[in-house]
Parts: sequence; C-alpha cells; structure tokens
Amino acid sequence: MITEATIEGLRAQVADWRAEGRRVALVPTMGNLHAGHVQLVKQARTVADRVVVSIFVNPMQFGEGEDFDSYPRTMEADGEKLAAEGTDLLFAPGVAEVYRRPQAEQTVVEVPGLSAILCGASRPGHFAGVATVVCKLFNMVQPDVALFGEKDFQQLMVIRRMAEDLEIPVEIIGVATVREADGLAMSSRNGYLDADERLRAPAVYRSLQETSERIRDGAGDLGQLEARARQQLEAAGLRPDYFHIRRASDLQPPTDQDRELVILVAAYLGGARLIDNLTLTR
Ligand code: PAJ
Repeated sequence: MITEATIEGLRAQVADWRAEGRRVALVPTMGNLHAGHVQLVKQARTVADRVVVSIFVNPMQFGEGEDFDSYPRTMEADGEKLAAEGTDLLFAPGVAEVYRRPQAEQTVVEVPGLSAILCGASRPGHFAGVATVVCKLFNMVQPDVALFGEKDFQQLMVIRRMAEDLEIPVEIIGVATVREADGLAMSSRNGYLDADERLRAPAVYRSLQETSERIRDGAGDLGQLEARARQQLEAAGLRPDYFHIRRASDLQPPTDQDRELVILVAAYLGGARLIDNLTLTR
C-alpha cells in the first residue's frame, strides 16, 4: 500500500493508473476504522481495479464545541487494517494541505434544503463542511466510483445531490450499515461510551425496528409513533435529539401515498451523539 500526504503525490499515482486504463474507487473516511469502514473498502475492491482510501478529520464539518480535538486518531492501526484489505493507496493529508486558506476565505459547497433539516438543524454548517471536503476529495482523486455508508443516510443524500448538481462524473454507491451483534450501528463515536452506556445504546436500533414493525402492521399515525419512540429512548436513559419518519426520496414528511420511508434517529448518550436509520416499504 502506498501512503501519500500530498495532493501532488496522490495525483501522480492516480494518473499512472488512469493511463493504464484502471478503474479507481475512493472511500473517504475520518479514520479510526472499524468493520463498517472495512466493508466499504471490501465493496470498493469488487467494483474497481484500484482503491484509494482517504483519512482526514475534516475541521470544517465540526461545529463550535464539538469533538474535533478529541476525535480518535489511530493512523497506525488504520494503516494496518487498510493494507490487510488490499487498499492500493492511503491518502492522509494534513489540514494545511486540504485547506490552503483560513476557513473564512474557503469556497463553500452548500446543498440547500437537505442540509438544513434533521442532523443539519442540530449541527449548523455540518453538511456544508461535508459537501465541501467531499467535493475537494472528488477533484483531488477524480475517482470513477465512490462509496459511502447508508448509516449516514442524510450525508449520502447530500453527497449524491452535490455530485449531481455540480456534474461531477462519479458513480456513488451506498453500502448497508454494519452493526454490532446487539444491533448498535458501528461508529467511531461508540468509543465515547462507558460500559453502562454501551449496554443502553442498542435502544437506538430497537426503536427503529419497533417503529418499522408498527408501520408495516398498518399503524397510520406517524406522529404518535415518533412520540412513542422518543419516550422509549428516554426510558432507556438516552436523550433523543430527533426521531422522524420521512419519505426516503427527499427526507420530507410523507403523505399517505408514500410507500418508501426512512426512519431517522439521533440521540445523545453520555459523551456520544448516536445516529441511525432504517428504510422500509409499507
Ligand atoms: P466517517 O464517519 O469516518 O465515515 C466514513 C464512511 O464510513 C462514511 O461513508 C460512513 O457512512 C461509513 N460508515 C460509518 N459507519 C458505518 C457503518 N456502521 N456501516 C457502514 N458504513 C459506515 O462520514 C464521514 O467519515 C465523513 O463525514 C466523510 C464522508 C469522510 C467526510 O469528511
């Protein structure tokens, strides 16, 4: 596995592959890799000849008072995992390589509407930070295909919309959420949980499953289901940020005619903000 910290080095390598006619995949990450990230890399291997993984803890997507400074950085272990999965190139730039200007002067990629709701409502500026860095990574690597987790459902939608609106010629593949045995979605932020919190955390996925079952059993009052799920999360010792049943196509409140739904949840537990979602057809 080649490791590159500069855009110039990255581009030189990718240009060689392109000259050989290779199909290039990109898997963007913030590191502290777990089995969810590894699944993206495995899938990337099946759809491309060369796999680039980026590790960059992106300051622009963290808000004031969020966990940018304490976000787990485990580059050595990450590198070993990626090499074992057959990653061809690890791109691990520093902040100054990605952002040449102070943040106030940085060009921003905004996806309006989609970025303002759900996680975007609780984390102002977050999705502009994500869209900007992913747009930059797409331009740095110029991949044929890029893979993202469905665990971050809203993020995946924001990135699809950004690539479509800006005519970025990249195929975007969503990968199913990888879970612990008890249903908890794998996340770098699960490491913030202490032993007691870790035992409570599966309540998040349980609330999604129970709500999904009720909808499929014909429950029609979605507002009531949302309120009930929030109460259940509170009873399990979590502090729900939001719990919403939405139309899968655009994350807007569904009408009675909408069949493809997604249930999205964010909840605070100890020092962690956990998010998860579940799609269903009713
Ligand atoms: P990060 O949280 O490191 O996640 C990197 C990728 O792994 C994202 O596409 C995310 O959806 C996916 N992922 C995380 N947990 C997963 C799980 N349990 N199952 C499947 N996929 C999972 O998301 C980011 O980084 C950043 O916002 C980024 C896109 C890299 C931009 O900075």
